[in-house]
Amino acid sequence: MLPINLEGQNCVIFGVANQRSIAWAIAQALHEAGANLAFTYQNQRLQENVARLVEPWGEAPLIECDVSEDEHIVRTFGELKERFGSLSMVVHSIGFAPRENLGGNFYDTSRQGFRTTLEVSAYSLIPIAKHAAELMPEGGSIITLTFGLQQIYPGYNIMGTAKAALEHEVRHLAVELGPKGVRVNALSPGPLDTLAARGVHGFVDMKHLHAERSPLRRNVTHEEVAKAAVFLLSDLASGITGTILPVDGGYHIMGV
Ligand SMILES: NC(=O)c1ccc[n+]([C@@H]2O[C@H](COP(=O)([O-])OP(=O)(O)OC[C@H]3O[C@@H](n4cnc5c(N)ncnc54)[C@H](O)[C@@H]3O)[C@@H](O)[C@H]2O)c1
Repeated sequence: MLPINLEGQNCVIFGVANQRSIAWAIAQALHEAGANLAFTYQNQRLQENVARLVEPWGEAPLIECDVSEDEHIVRTFGELKERFGSLSMVVHSIGFAPRENLGGNFYDTSRQGFRTTLEVSAYSLIPIAKHAAELMPEGGSIITLTFGLQQIYPGYNIMGTAKAALEHEVRHLAVELGPKGVRVNALSPGPLDTLAARGVHGFVDMKHLHAERSPLRRNVTHEEVAKAAVFLLSDLASGITGTILPVDGGYHIMGV
């Protein structure tokens, strides 16, 4: 059991695809802390995975939400209002880029690849934060997942552009929602083996590089990212908003 009590707090988690998803690690930590969880899934194909994972926990709302569809987002928050009344926490753990745009020359990025990647991976946080904040009369905490890049990773390509947009959104939303007591932050984990990560050309090399060069001389784990998520989502981080928190073994401070 985590030494924190989130009983009675309602949370919606976007982005569980399978047991390796970062969102699933966060869900497990939140469940241990006693939070009430609702999950969205991208499409029918993934519904079964999510249902199987949450089954041992009994009834948890499962809602289909493809974030490229405005009406899915509206319907999701309608259902959450019905089921929970109010919300205090949101996990946005969504990213997608067409495979052909995750490798090769960045200057070959197609207009459509740019649109799709930015729309799913960055734009989606904006309507989600807007609708979530409406269900947070007593304030709340929203987190997203970035791969904080001051550096360039060949292969990450258009996803790096989307993360830059996402990080800007975190700051802008933090400013607009702060007066309502809603905090918005991002976690920036080092490389973790997930479905999304496997699509990035050169991911395995990137992972080795992190393990070799980070001050902790190893890769971080899903559990470490989940613990940091619980921190940002909970009252322990009540004074923190608009922040990108690296959970990368210190890799981001290295000059080489
Ligand atoms: N794995 C890593 O190394 C790493 C590092 C830093 C940040 N991140 C970020 O963490 C987040 C979660 O990724 P992950 O690594 O857990 O991989 P993942 O593949 O398990 O999760 C990605 C999720 O995005 C969802 N998604 C994609 N398109 C969607 C759409 N149109 N509508 C709704 N959902 C959609 C997928 O269904 C999936 O659940 C992403 O934003 C990713 O960029 C990952």
